[in-house]
Amino acid sequence: MSYQERFLLAGLMGWPVMHSRSPKIHGYWLQQHGLAGAYLPLAIRPDGLEAALRALPALGFAGVNLTIPHKEEALRIVDRVDPLARRIGAVNCIVVQKDGSLEGRNYDAFGFVESIRQSAPDFVFNKAPAVVIGAGGASRAILAGLIDEGVPQIRLINRSPARAQALAQEFGPSVEAVAWEDRAAALDGAGLLVNTTSQGMVGEPPLDLNLSALPVNALVVDIVYVPLQTPLLREAAVRGNPTVDGLGMLLHQARPAFEDWFGVKVAVTPQLRELILATL
Ligand code: ATR
Repeated sequence: MSYQERFLLAGLMGWPVMHSRSPKIHGYWLQQHGLAGAYLPLAIRPDGLEAALRALPALGFAGVNLTIPHKEEALRIVDRVDPLARRIGAVNCIVVQKDGSLEGRNYDAFGFVESIRQSAPDFVFNKAPAVVIGAGGASRAILAGLIDEGVPQIRLINRSPARAQALAQEFGPSVEAVAWEDRAAALDGAGLLVNTTSQGMVGEPPLDLNLSALPVNALVVDIVYVPLQTPLLREAAVRGNPTVDGLGMLLHQARPAFEDWFGVKVAVTPQLRELILATL
């Protein structure tokens, strides 16, 4: 272990927070790189977020991740917001700057794209339309990621049509809101299908979507990772579609945060994936 002047500190602010796998992910990298430090679950009530964030520099924290319900509120508190986080409308990573100010970033789009790059390296983003189901916070990050990768057309489908229409307006001409009733037909000719809803998660019913119009070479991605094989991914695999599960997005969004805070490049290794898989 190398000599360090200070104990490295970062964490996750959420309410609730104890279910999170992030302490294990960052803990793995700290240990792997022989760094003395800790990544702590920080249970912060919504009305305590600002005070907690402002305390970070004095406590010597390099930064924090944010989860429910703080991702949007943090946008209003931090001193600077990175343009991508501004576009997504949420902050999932805060980096304490040398002068004690706070910068908000968002690595969810990066995590989503990198997860596909690692698990489906042959996938080409800019050649065919994508279908995205859901119009919540996760969908916003995924839309930004797909647009930045040059996806030519995104068919956005949400149970509540107004939310999909609002996102299509906001994210520009490549995003087209498609009615919930037309979701099965919208799969025709798609190269990518992404579920950003909670449907298929343990305790929730499967996503109600008939896949028969989806080309068999289309990539199917679910952001749900409990269970790892959602009914959607299982059905897609049975008909021959390549699939990417939701664990990769969680693992890859953590990489740039660790690098920002501690200045060390890290990788999503099979061993890390196994470690987190064992907790699901
Ligand atoms: P997140 O920030 O994780 O994306 P969210 O903002 O609560 O969470 O969004 C959840 C998404 O799942 C929404 O798109 C939601 O659709 P609505 O906008 O119509 O609520 C979608 N969703 C939740 N339950 C659903 C269901 N039973 N069928 C279809 N979509 C559902």
